[in-house]
Amino acid sequence: MEGKKVLITGGLGFIGSNLARRLVQEGADVTIVDSLIPEYGGNPRNLHDIKDQVTMNFSDVRDPFSMNQLVQGQDYLFNLAGQTSHLDSMENPFTDLDINAKAQLSILEACRNHNPDIRIVFASTRQIYGKPQYLPVDEKHPLHPVDVNGVNKMAGECYHILYNDVYGISASVLRLTNTYGPRMRIKDARQTFLGIWIRNLLEGKPIQVFGDGRQRRDYNYVEDVVDALLLAASRPEAEGKIFNLGAPDPLNLLDTAQLMCNFVNGASYEKIPFPENREAIDIGDFICNYHAFEKAFRWTPKVEFAEGIERSLQYFRDELEHYL
Ligand SMILES: NC(=O)c1ccc[n+]([C@@H]2O[C@H](COP(=O)([O-])OP(=O)(O)OC[C@H]3O[C@@H](n4cnc5c(N)ncnc54)[C@H](O)[C@@H]3O)[C@@H](O)[C@H]2O)c1
Repeated sequence: MEGKKVLITGGLGFIGSNLARRLVQEGADVTIVDSLIPEYGGNPRNLHDIKDQVTMNFSDVRDPFSMNQLVQGQDYLFNLAGQTSHLDSMENPFTDLDINAKAQLSILEACRNHNPDIRIVFASTRQIYGKPQYLPVDEKHPLHPVDVNGVNKMAGECYHILYNDVYGISASVLRLTNTYGPRMRIKDARQTFLGIWIRNLLEGKPIQVFGDGRQRRDYNYVEDVVDALLLAASRPEAEGKIFNLGAPDPLNLLDTAQLMCNFVNGASYEKIPFPENREAIDIGDFICNYHAFEKAFRWTPKVEFAEGIERSLQYFRDELEHYL
């Protein structure tokens, strides 16, 4: 990526900021676009130490005039801006629609009209599969999203593949699973439950596990996801393709809670009944099959969950005040 011009939508957010840091290390010319909506994961702290090494643009991806300008001259677009809360998408469905679907179309139109040679990687989500019909879930699994966010993210990824196929605007899609690590939102459960669990652990409060805790999940450490995003951007074989990410060490929620408690003296977890609004959109047991991406690009997660959680807790111990 040395010398390349790279635009990251959502670049002050969790994954975007970790990606931006890597790109700056690699010598890329990075522009961040982020609207810093308070309920989302954007946080100026995420790039405070390298803010002079990137160009910051505090625009909203829903503003086509900004996006028309911003895509010009860029070699790559990592399209990560999004409304990520499943519950919020049920309470404010039209905001989710505007950001995760309509704005995606206008970003693609900006590229079609002003920079058709740009290379795009779009961050989709495994949420679009809904409740799995079989495990592990591969890319051929039917798509039956269980919440508004899933429907709109599905539209977002379809638009990217459509613009790739019809207009030749090179786009790849990665369907991310639970991603965690330094710089994630831990203030509340809007990003993933792991965020609020980290906060509770560091504040000496019990972790709350909903239901029987037997639902399995797979977790990717953010540096592994950054590797995957960069691979998808740099390999022509990824153009026009959709890939799952995933992890080889899935855990159920009880084991996840226990493992996380092991890193903090006196930490504990409690099982509580599933809140009704969350149970209605829960996907149950879920594990992604990521063999297609692994086989094509020799990507495999390097950071095991225990190691990644230890690193994350260390980061937030030092930085807690900036993330509350
Ligand atoms: N973190 C995960 O576990 C996970 C899992 C699946 C998919 N994803 C996808 O990855 C992408 C990045 O997620 P993240 O975890 O870094 O979330 P995040 O909330 O930390 O980052 C998203 C960023 O987008 C910005 N943003 C939101 N709406 C915007 C708008 N209208 N205009 C400009 N900026 C806007 C936010 O301010 C934030 O900085 C999202 O698209 C998300 O759907 C994440």
